[in-house]
Amino acid sequence: MRIGIPAETRAGEKRVASVPEIVEKLIKLGFSVAVESGAGDAANFSDDSYRAAGAEIIEGAAALWAGADVVFKVTVPTPEEVALMRAGSVLIGFVWPAQNPELMQQLAAQKVTVLAIDCLPRMLSRAQKMDALTSQAGVAGYRAVIEAANVFGRFFNGQITAAGKVPPAKVFIAGAGVAGLAAIGAAAGLGAIVRANDTRAEVADQVKSLGGEFVKVDYEEEGGGGGGYAKVMSEGFQQAQREMYAQQAREVDIIITTALIPGKPAPRLITAEMVRSMKPGSVIVDMAAERGGNCELTEPGQVVVKHGVTIVGYTDLNSRLAKQSSTLYATNLFRLTEELCKTKDGIINVNMEDDAIRGLTVIKDGEITWPAPAPKLPAAAPKPAEKPVAAPAAKGHGAASEPMSVGSLAMVFGIGALLFLLIGAYAPAAFLGHFTVFVLACFVGYMVVWNVTPALHTPLMSVTNAISSIIAIGALVQVAPPQTFLGNFMDRPEGWIRGLAVLAIVLTAINMFGGFAVTRRMLSMFRK
Ligand code: NAI
Repeated sequence: MRIGIPAETRAGEKRVASVPEIVEKLIKLGFSVAVESGAGDAANFSDDSYRAAGAEIIEGAAALWAGADVVFKVTVPTPEEVALMRAGSVLIGFVWPAQNPELMQQLAAQKVTVLAIDCLPRMLSRAQKMDALTSQAGVAGYRAVIEAANVFGRFFNGQITAAGKVPPAKVFIAGAGVAGLAAIGAAAGLGAIVRANDTRAEVADQVKSLGGEFVKVDYEEEGGGGGGYAKVMSEGFQQAQREMYAQQAREVDIIITTALIPGKPAPRLITAEMVRSMKPGSVIVDMAAERGGNCELTEPGQVVVKHGVTIVGYTDLNSRLAKQSSTLYATNLFRLTEELCKTKDGIINVNMEDDAIRGLTVIKDGEITWPAPAPKLPAAAPKPAEKPVAAPAAKGHGAASEPMSVGSLAMVFGIGALLFLLIGAYAPAAFLGHFTVFVLACFVGYMVVWNVTPALHTPLMSVTNAISSIIAIGALVQVAPPQTFLGNFMDRPEGWIRGLAVLAIVLTAINMFGGFAVTRRMLSMFRK
């Protein structure tokens, strides 16, 4: 099949749906690739670089669309582009079916198949590599910080110079989703003091791990609306949040807002009054500008100065980092193509039995298949206990389980004691010794695993793996020579046992040293 990459036609759009490096990979998957002449120019990918990667360069959109079996696009297609589509062809790109009902009808009438990358079931872990919303939001969050730095008149990091002391800039990030977290990382990397708030309390650890401080709203309410998204909060919460944001507005130099609730207008978090209270020269970057803005004074697509505060309302942050955005987007589409072409023969199979593909497919051969039924997920993890567990031993639990009642605890102990009594009475004495060690090992293992934060379970596993190499002691005992080790190593009848023991020591040494080395590397990821 032939994949076509047209030039994007939305005014000011600089991204392109595939890049030369990925074109090569698509060709290896068995496809031929055609690129519209000039499609990558604005993202710094020349026609020659596509040609060198094996693509054919086509002059004009009409010829490109007419010859393509599959079209990769970034932005929502225009009616003119849809009219160019061949019946039976496949379109992959952003479509936003809920917001574009007319476009959906037009595409269906064209008898095409449409895979909307924005409809990917993001909760499936298998889908992460194809998640263009995440890759694009990450780039946009980073770019928001760069835009803020561009209009902010000072350094981000604190400096002591011969000319005087410069305090670090204070940055407040509203909403710590994908874009917010990327912004926290970028601002902290530039040396600013970063604070962030989100209605979902579970992101606090992620904020901290990126070098930010999580600022809580002084009001108890669960902010998760399911699937990692937020919900609309109660009036009481919103009031408490407004008070906290008003205080932050007075203190910080830069505010970057990224708050979003899917399917709802952007929550208004920064009022005109808060803008007025900010220091002159402060900056607000409102990433939600396209959805109405998180700030009352934002003008979508514009940079305006109000009450001495510069408010950046760009809606094309990705396009402003076109090379990076295009490369990540192209990788997402390539991963999707791999899923669609498991046979690696250049033929796409839109398998509606596959949860991820089903979720993406909004039109199949001219028939609207959106919205897709919810994908089958593994049973949901148990909800964390409502009340925080008071006992200090419970600290670090990921999902605290209900404590056992005294009655059931007594019953478990009773049964355990009875079993011990029976084993003690009938089993050989040596067995009882081993059994006691086994039971104690199970208990210690349980306590170790359950009292460690889930995030640390993988390093814990590697360290226990390394420790388990204690079997080396057994091998050492076998190797230990009664007289000299090498002298009569091969002549003795038990020489082969020693050989095996030496082999065991070598293997277990790999396990031991490797285990500790891996643990060290993993733990260093948690250190700042
Ligand atoms: P996301 O869904 O991953 O994150 C949004 C976060 O906002 C969530 O963590 C949510 O809990 C939080 N939130 C919702 N209501 C809140 C409230 N009242 N107070 C505090 N936090 C609240 O979304 P993502 O992907 O990070 O995108 C963020 C925003 O950036 C969206 O509005 C998106 O449309 C926009 N965006 C803008 C671009 C541009 O060029 N301007 C480019 C890409 C994304």
